[in-house]
Amino acid sequence: MDLYCVMGNPVEHSRSPWIHARFAELTGQTLDYGRRLVPIDGFDEAVAAFRADPAGTARGCNITVPFKFDAAALAQHLSPRAALARAVNVLSFEEDGIHGDNSDGAGLVNDITVHAGVSLAGSELLLLGAGGAAAGVLGPLLEGSPRRVVVANRTLAKAITLVQRHAALALAHHVTLEAQELHAVPGNFDIVVNATASSLAGGEVPVAASVLKRGALAVDMMYGPAAVGFMNWARDHGAVPRDGLGMLVEQAAEAFALWRGVRPPAAQVLAELRAIVDRT
Ligand code: ATR
Repeated sequence: MDLYCVMGNPVEHSRSPWIHARFAELTGQTLDYGRRLVPIDGFDEAVAAFRADPAGTARGCNITVPFKFDAAALAQHLSPRAALARAVNVLSFEEDGIHGDNSDGAGLVNDITVHAGVSLAGSELLLLGAGGAAAGVLGPLLEGSPRRVVVANRTLAKAITLVQRHAALALAHHVTLEAQELHAVPGNFDIVVNATASSLAGGEVPVAASVLKRGALAVDMMYGPAAVGFMNWARDHGAVPRDGLGMLVEQAAEAFALWRGVRPPAAQVLAELRAIVDRT
């Protein structure tokens, strides 16, 4: 049996096992996808233990908070997008070693362009946050050729570092890319992506509502209760709110395609998962 899992801490509420089991069912693939709670200081050991599992052959795993940087350090081969993000959410165990990739950005881009039906090309986009979540998506967002991207963060220095690392990619795609402090964001935007952890801390949306153009798409990378504050704020100010459930399913689809060579029907699985989440 080919084994996969999601590793994180916490991990008990992860929807990934359900999503991948459904992908396998719909594509006729045989695999087992579990979840593993990893001690905070025990990431490398947990990967080694998974690979030694006698129940089957470990083929790969998804990595969630707070181990995406540990996963990038552990991988012997990094995809270009994972190297730019310096974070890995997909590990594949190959003959020549451990490969690390990052499918979060592609997941977000697919959700915005396919499911929300909003084009990145020519848009003005605001990315809130400059931590691991923001780093994982900035590269693929730039590749969609928006006209202008502002990365705004509470700690300006982190936004500047992230922007500098992406300067060449922005230039290649003719994107004006700048870093700003949250309270000094100039202008307004077609798309606002919340990659801060402020809602987890129960905080207010950390930016003025004037950043939203009327009818703007406002995406929180989280879903469930953690996304409610941002989504209500967006709706109250004339924007179209969207949670991170579509991104979650799309990043999983990208990982599944990488591992199995088959693209699963993400739209169908997203609709099914949305119905389950709405009921709970
Ligand atoms: P993640 O992997 O989820 O991105 P992280 O790397 O700890 O986690 O980054 C958290 C992000 O949320 C950062 O951009 C952080 O801002 P700082 O760089 O200034 O710390 C942002 N953040 C967390 N709490 C916030 C708050 N209350 N208001 C605004 N931004 C906040």
